[in-house]
Amino acid sequence: MAWLGVLLLLGSCSFTYTSERKDYAVPRFNISLDLPPEERWKPIIEQYNFTELQRYMKHLLSLIKDHWLKSMYFIMADMYLDLLAPEPYAGEIRGIAKSFGLKTSEVTLINLFYETVMACTSIITETKEGYIYHGRNMDLYFSIDLRKLVMDVDFIRNGQIVYTGTTFTGIVGLYTGQSPHKFTISSNAREDNQVLWKNALSLLLRRYPVSWLIRDTLNSAPDFNSAVEILSHTEITAEMYLTIAGTKPGEGVAITRDRDGLADVLNLNVSDGRWFLVQTNYDRETLHPPHDNRMYYATQALNSTGQENINKDSLYKVLSTQNVITWGTVHTTMMSAASPEDYVSFIRNSMNYPQLPKKRYIT
Ligand SMILES: *[C@@H]1O[C@H](CO)[C@@H](O)[C@H](O)[C@H]1NC(C)=O
Ligand SMILES: *[C@@H]1O[C@H](CO)[C@@H](O)[C@H](O)[C@H]1NC(C)=O
Ligand SMILES: *[C@@H]1O[C@H](CO)[C@@H](O)[C@H](O)[C@H]1NC(C)=O
Ligand SMILES: *[C@@H]1O[C@H](CO)[C@@H](O)[C@H](O)[C@H]1NC(C)=O
Repeated sequence: MAWLGVLLLLGSCSFTYTSERKDYAVPRFNISLDLPPEERWKPIIEQYNFTELQRYMKHLLSLIKDHWLKSMYFIMADMYLDLLAPEPYAGEIRGIAKSFGLKTSEVTLINLFYETVMACTSIITETKEGYIYHGRNMDLYFSIDLRKLVMDVDFIRNGQIVYTGTTFTGIVGLYTGQSPHKFTISSNAREDNQVLWKNALSLLLRRYPVSWLIRDTLNSAPDFNSAVEILSHTEITAEMYLTIAGTKPGEGVAITRDRDGLADVLNLNVSDGRWFLVQTNYDRETLHPPHDNRMYYATQALNSTGQENINKDSLYKVLSTQNVITWGTVHTTMMSAASPEDYVSFIRNSMNYPQLPKKRYIT
């Protein structure tokens, strides 16, 4: 199977991460930004088992239970793609639909509404020497296992890596990414997101899908501060937490976003005792539910690690601490914009961690 071939190829990479569980690096692909959008993803999609891919996509769509609502979303998705969706995303989605043998409305819907279902943990740390690490767990509470679809992608223009990101096969946006030597970004869903129709309405108001804004920012923001500026103020379709890390001491920020602006912001500040930032899926000042207090357990793990011991190994361990990692954790991505070659995502074998009681579904 093509899939296995990809994994075997990756087996030659050397991993410095220590873990008792069988985590493995996700497949890594190049996307050429010099190709027309319609043609970019085809070579990647062809490496997957079509029957399986189609089954995944249909299953994702089946998470929208209400048939009337679903038909309406399909109509809106097509309208959006034809009238409003910006390039290169519209073209890439058309190309993907063609390669997959799915309707454009189906691929558009999957792309646009993914951002409503992520629950994640993002952490930025600063070492005593002022070196910045950024790690994230991507948690998805689906009844289907999407581990096979995760990929790291290097976006290439003129033979150079312009940016790198992690996504799922068929999804053109990025929820995790790196602009080499500049900054890294991760996004976490904010609770109000569960209401899909609000996001749909936002789209028609020409607000921007978050995962596309992240890709745009990685593509064109010249530095950390401009990235923070763009991600703080551009109108977006869904409420979101955005975590951005740079390359210099103090360059780390956790942003809480409303659709039309900034709700809250917190910076790294070592002189104020903040050598790390933790972001999960709850507002900082609210009480986090006891059954899902990843913030508490991550903070505790970082406290006991200590700033003098933080490095990519120990940060990975923090993200692997029980109650930080959960049964929904699909992948862990480790990045550091100052050392872009270290960007890597691992599939987590986390199914036997305690289940969160929360049921996630889409309306
Ligand atoms: C693709 O997946 C299907 C369903 O799991 C399987 O039956 C089929 O043999 C696979 N095809 C290839 C070429 O591996
Ligand atoms: C991806 O592109 C980079 C930069 O051009 C190149 O060095 C690398 O070999 C390519 N990787 C693959 C798998 O084609
Ligand atoms: C960091 O914290 C110190 C002490 O509270 C404060 O004086 C300083 O302005 C803060 N720096 C930034 C960049 O927020
Ligand atoms: C972590 O350490 C800080 C500073 O010492 C302390 O205020 C906080 O309560 C600790 N949190 C946990 C969860 O251990």
